[in-house]
Amino acid sequence: MQNTIEKTNGKLGVLIPGLGAVATTFIAGVEAVKKGIAQPVGSLTQMGNIRLGKRTENRYPKIKEFVPLANLDEMVFGGWDVYSDNVFEAASKAKVLEPMLLHAVKAELEAIQPMKAVFDKAYISNLDGEHVKEAPTKADLARMVMDDIENFRDANDCGSVVIVWCGSTEKYIEVSTVHETIESFEEGLKNNDPAISPSMIYAYAALKLGVPFANGAPNLTVDIPALVELSKQTGTPIGGKDFKTGQTLMKTIVAPGLAARALGVKGWFSSNILGNRDGYVLDHPDNFKTKEVSKLSVLEDILQPEHNEELYGEIYHKVRINYYPPHGDNKESWDNIDIFGWLGYPMQIKINFLCRDSILAAPIVLDLALFMDLAKRAGMSGIQEWLSFYFKSPQTAPGLRPEHDIFKQLIKLQNTLRHMMGEDLITHLGLDYYQDLVEVL
Ligand SMILES: NC(=O)c1ccc[n+]([C@@H]2O[C@H](COP(=O)([O-])OP(=O)(O)OC[C@H]3O[C@@H](n4cnc5c(N)ncnc54)[C@H](O)[C@@H]3O)[C@@H](O)[C@H]2O)c1
Repeated sequence: MQNTIEKTNGKLGVLIPGLGAVATTFIAGVEAVKKGIAQPVGSLTQMGNIRLGKRTENRYPKIKEFVPLANLDEMVFGGWDVYSDNVFEAASKAKVLEPMLLHAVKAELEAIQPMKAVFDKAYISNLDGEHVKEAPTKADLARMVMDDIENFRDANDCGSVVIVWCGSTEKYIEVSTVHETIESFEEGLKNNDPAISPSMIYAYAALKLGVPFANGAPNLTVDIPALVELSKQTGTPIGGKDFKTGQTLMKTIVAPGLAARALGVKGWFSSNILGNRDGYVLDHPDNFKTKEVSKLSVLEDILQPEHNEELYGEIYHKVRINYYPPHGDNKESWDNIDIFGWLGYPMQIKINFLCRDSILAAPIVLDLALFMDLAKRAGMSGIQEWLSFYFKSPQTAPGLRPEHDIFKQLIKLQNTLRHMMGEDLITHLGLDYYQDLVEVL
């Protein structure tokens, strides 16, 4: 496959619906890294290594030196929001980054003015946007988004463009008839079908133009048959849902460890407080439901109670999110985990994670933008399951169980990169050369 990866060609445009806390922390961070005043910590593409070949070969290049990713210097940013604040103003209001750092990249951030959003209050009742597109039908809105993308591409001289949804979480909906086929979806766009959400309109516009689309929120968006089909038809990579940060990140690190040692789990109570705008939107039950579904699936898929009734058959899993303004973006989470060991003796684990939500999410946006662009240049289309590593609720082909275990997700991601570059896949077996080494000693 190596020879078939197209080279990067000019700038990489990253377009983001939702220029809030996560998006502005991401953009300001990349600009600061470009200036050499900060490090892209948490970004696998920038700071991670990958082992190649046998352990005896001692080859551990940086991922960015191994695969042909776009350089940060080639990245340009734009986006849409229901508020007209430029990225400097929005970042200042989000209060994630210190004023000193923001002022060091002020000119770059001020230059990014959001385009008018596709917005529907029926999907996010806790927001009142005034910077919003108006058109008679959803089909017209999709056309307007396509124009935005093309204008941005031309104005910034971009060789390629990717979209990462960082907009607020939309209310919970399930897949319905209008989402089933490209034809029914396009009909629904013309008829203003209420089951087509704003995020789906952005996604449709992107996919029509062959622009990769990653979804950082738990709403369905590209996880509907019509848009999966369209992504294949137009040769476009898609991925989602919901950036894996904070409590769920911890859960997918700890749970595989418990399962690996055949320790039992009786209960897992997860509670969060956060005070940013995301928390405010999630304070509404319809929007919380979307997030809850995304967070709940994780444990069941890792522990697989149906295959191990004795250890996990009785697990009680509860997730709460509470809006608490004084904490701002500094989310605090508590996990109480009731486990049991040898002969059924009970034990407890308590995790109190004082995290920074957008600080954990920003490097994910960066990696997704770079990997989605790489996938497109490598001719990969449809669901990019190898990027499950970044998502709380990974999108998979229908009927396929998502993989939540972060270590398996990492192996899959790294093996995909090795495969793309024509390197041997690593199984960690090592028997083929272990015996030779023992004989030498
Ligand atoms: N921060 C994290 O750790 C994390 C983790 C997983 C998922 N997420 C998700 O990422 C998204 C962004 O989080 P955030 O903390 O930046 O939230 P935020 O509220 O700060 O930003 C979201 C922005 O989206 C805008 N928006 C809403 N609907 C829009 C639309 N239709 N078009 C364009 N803009 C729209 C809002 O005005 C707001 O500025 C949320 O859905 C959140 O649930 C965040």
